[in-house]
Amino acid sequence: MSDVVSFAKEGSIGLITVNNPPVNALSQAVRAGIKESVEKGIADPDVKAMIILCEGRTFIAGADIREFGKPPMEPHLPDVVQSIEDSPKPIIAAIHGTALGGGLEIALGSHFRIAHSSAKVGLPEVKLGLLPGAGGTQRLPRVAGVEAALEMITSGDPVSAAKAKEMGIIDEITEGDLKKAAIAYAKRVIDEQLPLRRVSQLEAKLDTPTVFEDFAKRNARKFRGFLAPYKCIEAVKAATELSFPEGMKREREIFVELQASDQSKALRHVFFAEREVVRIPGLPEDQPTRDIKSVGIIGAGTMGGGIAMCFANAGIPVYLLDVSQEFLDKGMATIKKNYANTVSKGRLTQEEMDKRMSLIKPTLSYDDLKDVDLVIEAVFEDMNIKKEVFKKLDTVCKPGAILASNTSYLNINEIASVTKRPEDVMGMHFFSPANVMRLLENVRGEKTSPEVYATAMKIGRKIGKIPVLVGVCDGFVGNRMLAQRTRECAFMLEEGALPWQIDKVIYDFGFPMGPFAMADLAGLDVGWRNRKAKFDQLTEREKRCNILDKICEMGRFGQKTGAGYYKYDEKRNPTPDPLIEELIINHSKEVGIERREIGDQEIIERAIYSMINEGAKILEEGIAARPLDIDIVWIYGYGFPRYRGGPMFYADLVGLNKIYEAILKYREAVGPEYWTPSPLLEKLVKEGKGFYSK
Ligand code: 3HC
Repeated sequence: MSDVVSFAKEGSIGLITVNNPPVNALSQAVRAGIKESVEKGIADPDVKAMIILCEGRTFIAGADIREFGKPPMEPHLPDVVQSIEDSPKPIIAAIHGTALGGGLEIALGSHFRIAHSSAKVGLPEVKLGLLPGAGGTQRLPRVAGVEAALEMITSGDPVSAAKAKEMGIIDEITEGDLKKAAIAYAKRVIDEQLPLRRVSQLEAKLDTPTVFEDFAKRNARKFRGFLAPYKCIEAVKAATELSFPEGMKREREIFVELQASDQSKALRHVFFAEREVVRIPGLPEDQPTRDIKSVGIIGAGTMGGGIAMCFANAGIPVYLLDVSQEFLDKGMATIKKNYANTVSKGRLTQEEMDKRMSLIKPTLSYDDLKDVDLVIEAVFEDMNIKKEVFKKLDTVCKPGAILASNTSYLNINEIASVTKRPEDVMGMHFFSPANVMRLLENVRGEKTSPEVYATAMKIGRKIGKIPVLVGVCDGFVGNRMLAQRTRECAFMLEEGALPWQIDKVIYDFGFPMGPFAMADLAGLDVGWRNRKAKFDQLTEREKRCNILDKICEMGRFGQKTGAGYYKYDEKRNPTPDPLIEELIINHSKEVGIERREIGDQEIIERAIYSMINEGAKILEEGIAARPLDIDIVWIYGYGFPRYRGGPMFYADLVGLNKIYEAILKYREAVGPEYWTPSPLLEKLVKEGKGFYSK
């Protein structure tokens, strides 16, 4: 047999064991090994039944994603699954860990399925922009019903063994030793001569004729922009309309189409990027880190409170410090309200909430921080205030404690310079709301030690974040790139666009909201304050482009004041405001710009390509180590559509030459101070490469 699949006999039972770490993915060798083993079992007169089971931490977790995009190699998975189902001798799948994608399809091709109670099963292909391509869309509705199959296939979320049994996917669950239980089950199948259950011979029954349209409508918001969920629905529909072989043909056609799509390429890129991002180039896998058993947070405002919740959620005790009892009470009340909301939605038990609340201790005294392992400062964005805090922390905190700032743009090196331990100082930039947003920008200062930033990466994962390591510059990776988009969108307003036009284009591109709706949500006063703080560094045109100032001077700070770029009703629904339209048109007149029609393509180019050019500069300067770091920042921190793979991957899909040409065009039209191509971009274009080509 092959190295990765073995065949052994235990009495009259053939054991087909897959051993392809780490997750028993269905590489060509595994597929071939399973097929040969099945043939061997069929040919052996002593074998009366077979069991497919796996070594290691899990049952087969799917096709080998690394083989996608390469020329397909025989045997193809649907044929392997068919050979299992066609076996005249009973085959039982014995599932532990996660039977995912092709793994579940192998199990569905088997005649019986037994699972350990801790196992999960699912068809996550949709998350990779695909559909289950080895019979999953045809067999699951036959065994679990059309509605249940639609839900499972389009969400990609796994279900527990117990739920799978309820749905008819699993026949038996064991608490004990899976192999023993599977052998006992196989013996029963032989002894009782149980008829072989071939799922393909069942019927996928339709309860209501409109089930597919209704399902698509109900999930329209969730599926927005994604291609694969709709294709999954189409394939499940085929299971109800076509014969099994014809349905399989249809499934294959759609699978091939999706596999070649840009969306699937992008989603597969994100799958690997989010795993790669935590590996720091230059650091060994066994890089020592420090233990973080308790944490101090400075500032009980929205950010500080949200950060405290992240640690409490992971069972790590937190001291939450502020300067007045009033601020502390307010902060604790907000945390309590947030948890209570989750409890009322049934996503957290009261007991768990109480436990988490008890882990957060409000305090007014820096002395309480003397034994903590990590402090995260989340006070007002003001360098002088931050320096004061860090001086105090330096005197109070024990040696070896990590001192981090949650600043979103200030210079970490300058903050570190006021302490006697700059090697222990770094940035840990959470995104609002901190208890919800997955991104954590870990900012390494010039002197931060590898042990310290490796610890921040590790603790970031522990509290459920996707940590990305970046370097020091104004706004780090995320906000530095965002500043480009913000400027271009403001310029486009004075040149002829309106906020709702730009917002619609950016929303349709796939962001959860456009830049102006987003600014209204965050509070216009925040941007206004930043603008005032940096006013001296602005260009003449930026100074003159003061639409934001004018709106803020009217007391319109966005959603919280009921009006900003938009006006809002009591439920915070936005409507375009003629007053703002007039204000913008008058502004153009005042500054002597003749307004013109601005097309959707120009909006995309100026809003997105400007960020890509900045991303290239960020790479050149080493602020981000790899393009994938930038992509992950934008997907998890700013809602860049996942199915476009992040700005740098998207740039490769568009073609860097096209982006380069557009940049040259805007250099002429808008000015070289905003639109000079980065040398890296220029070099890649000359070499005919992309950010990701080797
Ligand atoms: N193919 C290739 N490599 C895979 C893989 C797969 N299907 N699944 C996981 N891996 C790799 C990961 O990239 C990672 O590699 P690394 O160590 O080099 O970074 C390693 O296996 C371990 O993975 P995780 O870090 O994700 O380990 P976890 O224990 O956290 O999670 C898991 C395990 C739940 C199985 C998770 O890896 C997962 O969800 N995998 C993807 C499953 C999937 O999408 N299956 C469907 C594939 S498509 C398909 O089957 C098509 C078919 O219908 C025709």
